[in-house]
Amino acid sequence: MTPVTELDVQLLRDALGPLRDREQIAERLLDSSAKHSFDPDKELDWDSAIEDGKWFWPPELVSLYDTPLWRRMSEEQRMDLSRHEAASLASLGIWFEIILMQLLVRHIYDRPVTSNHVRYALTEIADECRHSMMFGRMITWGGTPDYPVPRVYHNLARVLKTVSTTPGSFAATLLGEEILDWMQRLTFPDERVQTLVRGVTRIHVVEEARHVRYAREELRRQMVTAPRWERELTRLSCGEAARVFSVCFVNPRVYENVGLDRHEAVAQVKASGHRAEVMQSGAKRLTDFFDDIGVLNGVGRRLWKRSGLLA
Ligand SMILES: [Fe+2]
Ligand SMILES: [Fe+2]
Repeated sequence: MTPVTELDVQLLRDALGPLRDREQIAERLLDSSAKHSFDPDKELDWDSAIEDGKWFWPPELVSLYDTPLWRRMSEEQRMDLSRHEAASLASLGIWFEIILMQLLVRHIYDRPVTSNHVRYALTEIADECRHSMMFGRMITWGGTPDYPVPRVYHNLARVLKTVSTTPGSFAATLLGEEILDWMQRLTFPDERVQTLVRGVTRIHVVEEARHVRYAREELRRQMVTAPRWERELTRLSCGEAARVFSVCFVNPRVYENVGLDRHEAVAQVKASGHRAEVMQSGAKRLTDFFDDIGVLNGVGRRLWKRSGLLA
């Protein structure tokens, strides 16, 4: 038998290191889940009435803010738009979470069922289940319709969530989680906003922090260990996801439903420097991270720039 060399030991350590690391991180996330998890059905007052004179989303984060159209709108119409946009973002959140639940189920299908990593993924699926119910209830409470994404993207995601690779899945997860999270961090402390919306966004921010950690750590590992074709594909699919995300972010039907011209509103949002700044600030933490682990190289960067999320 050939003797075990220093090099063999080192190689073994390198191979086991990421797995041990993965288990330790999952254990910490399980701890945090045990301490800070909420039951929105009990935690929030769903029988409360809508408060007069309060926003449903901070005005600066409403798509038309500071455009010529916004300046022509009455304060009441602006607030109404914030009500519809909050419902539109909640609908987008549910769409993302349902996709994510399927990706997580696929991710753990071949992994050891007693590992912390799998236990944590199951915990996260349970979190997302509660979130989607909470967002659905918030839309009903606000009294607007729900706002599904356009059919073509709904169907495109049907394919993606079925065939997506592991790094592609985690990159898309972060895209869905981090930008909405940035907005929600500004929403829950804002006293101008409806108490119920503040409660919903606070629960979501607390529980999402660990999802972001889980997805980041896994993606960082994958961008080192995945085969080259998979890393290239991740850059491409993530760039495409950024484009779809920015197109779907607010459903244009919200403008019609507050009595505005849809085409004029969409054109003004597109031309708005304030809006571009909001979207890029929201994406900054994410694009810095993607840049750091090599997701934004080559074609990936061009697609991100085109999406308007990267300056
Ligand atoms: Fe969530
Ligand atoms: Fe999440």
